[in-house]
Amino acid sequence: MIELYPITEHAVEFQNCLMNWYKKEARDLPWRADPSPYKVWISEIMLQQTRVDTVIPYFTRFISEIPTIQDLAQVPEEKLLKLWQGLGYYNRALNLKKAARVIMEQFNGYIPCDVRDLLFLPGIGEYTAGAIASIAFGKAVPAVDGNVLRVMARITVNRGDISNSKVKKQIESFVISLLPSKNAGIFNQALMDLGAMICLPNGEPKCSQCPIREYCMAHEQGITTEIPMKKEKKVRRIEKKTILILCFHGKYAIQRREESGLLPNLWEFPSFEGHMTKEQCISALNHLGIIPEKIKNLKASKHIFSHLEWHMKGFFVFVSDVSDNIGFTWATKEEIEYKYSIPTAFQDFIKQF
Ligand code: ADE
Repeated sequence: MIELYPITEHAVEFQNCLMNWYKKEARDLPWRADPSPYKVWISEIMLQQTRVDTVIPYFTRFISEIPTIQDLAQVPEEKLLKLWQGLGYYNRALNLKKAARVIMEQFNGYIPCDVRDLLFLPGIGEYTAGAIASIAFGKAVPAVDGNVLRVMARITVNRGDISNSKVKKQIESFVISLLPSKNAGIFNQALMDLGAMICLPNGEPKCSQCPIREYCMAHEQGITTEIPMKKEKKVRRIEKKTILILCFHGKYAIQRREESGLLPNLWEFPSFEGHMTKEQCISALNHLGIIPEKIKNLKASKHIFSHLEWHMKGFFVFVSDVSDNIGFTWATKEEIEYKYSIPTAFQDFIKQF
């Protein structure tokens, strides 16, 4: 065991072990081939709350549809949200466009390389600023995400709660003491890949394949699975909903969600709160001036958000008459697929018609 903590006189050996491993084992990811500031920025925003495998096709499509910051600053919101459909946390997409405008107006169209300037942009926090500055501009700054927190908590046997800001700061200071002055972007990405492939979050990490196990106190003490400490899970609120696929002359009713709150500005199918029976549904629809001709059960579906669960049942309703002022948009199946951005929560119902 080589003691790294709290003194880091072995930092250079540590860097070499980690970065030599990365040279051989780095994941082949599309934003790594040409790490331009724009590509690094887009990839890091997508990766904030989403797994690498999920991000890859979204990233490739996004870059081919919106290849530059100028394009992003001018992209219609509808197109942006459609490209983001299924990634979740849609504010990330809206903030990208806001930030692109700031970059055009205040930074001459160039993404800034300084962490403080990056932090000024909408949607960019400490981690993302560090990742862009180090990966795209080679600055010697840390980029401490959940993977890196786990790896470092194990190396130093930190039994604190890694979501606590004091613990994060402790770990960040330790990473700074290990950072190479050159190639900090490689170092940061090597830690991320180690966390994703070797120093795994659930179950046993793959310590026998770990290039830095000699530096790891948790490995030495045989307690890797105890660290980081598990937080108590938050209980999610459950909302029951009845989703309606209203079909009128081959088109389907959709409506825009509100500008603020959950899934802002995205499109959705009409729904009622609670789980309704067919009879309750028919009567509620009559109240709205909609005359159902035929009504069929759809398969129920659940969607889990970070803080909330939607438990949804659904009905497919053929409608024979609709009052004009009902306020729905009537869209074809094709438009629902290619034009309107409808959150993943509703995709199980789209598959059923
Ligand atoms: N997760 C977040 N950013 C990443 C990156 N640049 N490489 C791999 N995984 C990541």
